[in-house]
Amino acid sequence: MNYYQQHQSKFVEGLSTFLRIPSISTLSEHKQDIRRAAEFVRDELLAAGMTAAELIEGNGNPLVYAEWTGAPGKPTILFYGHYDVQPPDPLDEWKSPPFEPQIRGNDIFARGSADDKGQVYIQIKAVEGLLKTTGKLPVNVKFLIEGEEECGGEHIEAYVKTKPPRLKSDAAVVCDTEMFAPDLPTICVGLRGIVYGELFVEGANHDLHSGMYGGAAPNPLQAIAEIICALKDRDGHIKIPGFSDRVVPPSSVEREAWARLPFNQKEFTEKEMGARELVGEPGVPVLDRLWARPTLEVHGIRGGFTGEGAKTVIPARAVAKISTRLVGDQRVDEAAGQIKAAIKAATPKGVTAEFKVLHAGAPSLTNPNNRFIHAAADAMKHVFGKETVYIRSGGSIPIVGVFDQYLGIPSVMMGFGLPDDNLHAPNEKFHLPNFFRGIESVARYLEILGA
Ligand code: BES
Ligand code: MN
Ligand code: MN
Repeated sequence: MNYYQQHQSKFVEGLSTFLRIPSISTLSEHKQDIRRAAEFVRDELLAAGMTAAELIEGNGNPLVYAEWTGAPGKPTILFYGHYDVQPPDPLDEWKSPPFEPQIRGNDIFARGSADDKGQVYIQIKAVEGLLKTTGKLPVNVKFLIEGEEECGGEHIEAYVKTKPPRLKSDAAVVCDTEMFAPDLPTICVGLRGIVYGELFVEGANHDLHSGMYGGAAPNPLQAIAEIICALKDRDGHIKIPGFSDRVVPPSSVEREAWARLPFNQKEFTEKEMGARELVGEPGVPVLDRLWARPTLEVHGIRGGFTGEGAKTVIPARAVAKISTRLVGDQRVDEAAGQIKAAIKAATPKGVTAEFKVLHAGAPSLTNPNNRFIHAAADAMKHVFGKETVYIRSGGSIPIVGVFDQYLGIPSVMMGFGLPDDNLHAPNEKFHLPNFFRGIESVARYLEILGA
């Protein structure tokens, strides 16, 4: 038995301690938990044998930085992940409490188990195993773990943009994505970007009796519905002028590779999503719709009367949370401007509408033809016993574009989540066999790079 096999139960114990910290970055009452999670990561990195580990304070939640640079002449890898998690609600849909990790079958259930604490822990334990068994690492290693990924915070971006000399590295390794299917080692080479904002609509300056004023008074909820329908039509086409001008279709090589992926549309729809049928742009392949087309989604609408029974009121104001996903060469600022202009044009009589951006991140595409990605594919193939596939993902990890632009390094996205891990949803889980294989894959990866 090697170190990794010997320590499996210790690893699960350590991960469970990490998962018990409710480090929810979108809720300010969890500031202390955020700090505890950052300190936990720092202490784990020191215990793993990194020569230095510290919190970097700044405008926002602390960053955790660590390094081991005892391999002169060898490449330097920058590990990235996030210790913050999404809120757990709706709480009553969890089979076990979100911050009391429970193992059922081969899965560990807890908020953050797959996104992203389990995967951050994979990186730490991989390095730990090499350091404890050989006393050194095959390459130089740095860690930069953030606590604002889920809330779109800007601390890490502001820090990386100053190009601190200590971040100098040859490639980033991001473990925050998914495998395409169970047992199928996967590297993600494309992410969508995002512009997330709130649409504020105001009508009269106070609520109105809908009998006395209905028929003549502006209704902000109706207006929000009209604006939203003007932004995206029933076929899923985004109607924001100029929005699709910089969309780049996938190459024929990439499309052919996607067509060979083991994708079962019925299972995807009915089992994974639990939906009746798929929607979206007719004639566009599903994986294109998920990975290579922009989207517009409404996440919530607030306003008016939602309590028990009936109340005949025309609300004075309403708010909608809306995001768009960006692809290709779409730019964050330009897209935000286009959204605002389209909202302005679609605003009906009698109301005002204002779109305020909450956070944004650029899309990213990585050319898979570099040795850092090839080594990752080899390492995963070795551990999983299958050829590694390359996919894109519809999600967003804003730092990937920032690493590319400001540090000039590619990101190797080797993730070990599964499509049914319930990210951001109740009963999030991480598949323990992938947790263990992930640790061995990352260790193997460093060995290959150092050889
Ligand atoms: N890890 C996810 C992104 C992800 C999920 C990538 C699945 C690939 C596959 C990340 O934590 C996330 O949720 N990002 C947010 C964006 C962020 C700016 C709030 C997202 O994609 O909604
Ligand atoms: Mn994540
Ligand atoms: Mn997430």
